[in-house]
Amino acid sequence: MKKNLIFLGIETSCDETAASIVMGDKSGNAKILSNVVSSQIEIHKKFGGVVPNLASKAHSEMIDIVIKRAIKKSKISFKDIDGVATTSGPGLLVCLMVGMTAGKTISNFIKKPFYGINHLEGHALSAGISQKISYPYLLLLISGGHTQFLSINKFGDYKRIGTTIDDAVGEAFDKVAKMLGAEIPNGKIIEKMSSKGNSKKYNLPKPILYKSGCNLSFAGLKTAVMLQTKKIKDYKSKCDMAASFQETINQILKIKTAKAMEIFLGLHPILKHKNFVVAGGVASNKSIRNNLLKLSKSKGFNIIFPPVKLCTDNAAMIAWAGIKNHQNGKRSNINIESTARWPLDPKAPFMKGPGLKL
Ligand code: KG4
Ligand code: ZN
Repeated sequence: MKKNLIFLGIETSCDETAASIVMGDKSGNAKILSNVVSSQIEIHKKFGGVVPNLASKAHSEMIDIVIKRAIKKSKISFKDIDGVATTSGPGLLVCLMVGMTAGKTISNFIKKPFYGINHLEGHALSAGISQKISYPYLLLLISGGHTQFLSINKFGDYKRIGTTIDDAVGEAFDKVAKMLGAEIPNGKIIEKMSSKGNSKKYNLPKPILYKSGCNLSFAGLKTAVMLQTKKIKDYKSKCDMAASFQETINQILKIKTAKAMEIFLGLHPILKHKNFVVAGGVASNKSIRNNLLKLSKSKGFNIIFPPVKLCTDNAAMIAWAGIKNHQNGKRSNINIESTARWPLDPKAPFMKGPGLKL
């Protein structure tokens, strides 16, 4: 195997069109040569959420521009690429298909292997781009579509130990931002408003806090914010609500992470390094980072966050997952199809919907 591998990564699973060139060596070192992300926030903001057909159209319009830009910035040419990695799920099918078509076409053209990548695996391995992390590690994945605790035992062996039973934490942030009148429904706004608010003003519920292991629930919290927000008119109180919501999320994550650490140590009783990785868009929130940092210190865990630009959706993490697939002997497969649902732990039970036993 060549010493250094150069992979093109492509990501179009939701509302970000992204391409990146990443170089990786055999010892696990990575270098991002380019990381281009084109956001569709402006397109979707008037609808209050991502509109799949518009997202797909915007991906189609931007994909070749974004790929060309990534190649140019990296100062390599197509002939230097050793493989093409593209998100093939989970995500919006009409969006995934745009990236998949582009990735497969390039792979065919340059005659280099194609890897369809699980977006969640991209997030799960993303912290390893900036620093080497030994397996196993505990992962908290907090994004717009997913909220899960996983034991990352080794590459390709992922055991889910807890999950949300309703909304993802990022989704709750987005919805609360919308309720509080934010023009762009995004967690970043809540973080900003929180810095101006009193986190003790509103008392909000923390569903299943001491129930169901490290499974989580945010639907009841979101509804409580909705009901109490109806009575709020002034901006200061809205900031107080944002701060109270963020504080409640912090309290939930603190208790649930402590539980997840206990379960993780039960799975791996003899551990040299107790590593805890927090990844996904919500991991860019400073207050959440500080909260989990404090907890980790008290529990003897070494906490690792990917840099902020690798927390939110990007293609560097997809290129890196492609390199890892290649290095670990996973077969390249040009016939892989886009898939809306693709759990990282296929053995974990589906945990949403009525009749759920907690
Ligand atoms: O990982 P990501 O970019 O996309 C998914 O795979 O879902 O995560 C996006 C989510 C959104 O829900 C967004 O509101 C949330 O991450 N997010 C934040 C912050 N920045 C992004 N949530 C809270 N605080 C932030 N600073
Ligand atoms: Zn994501």
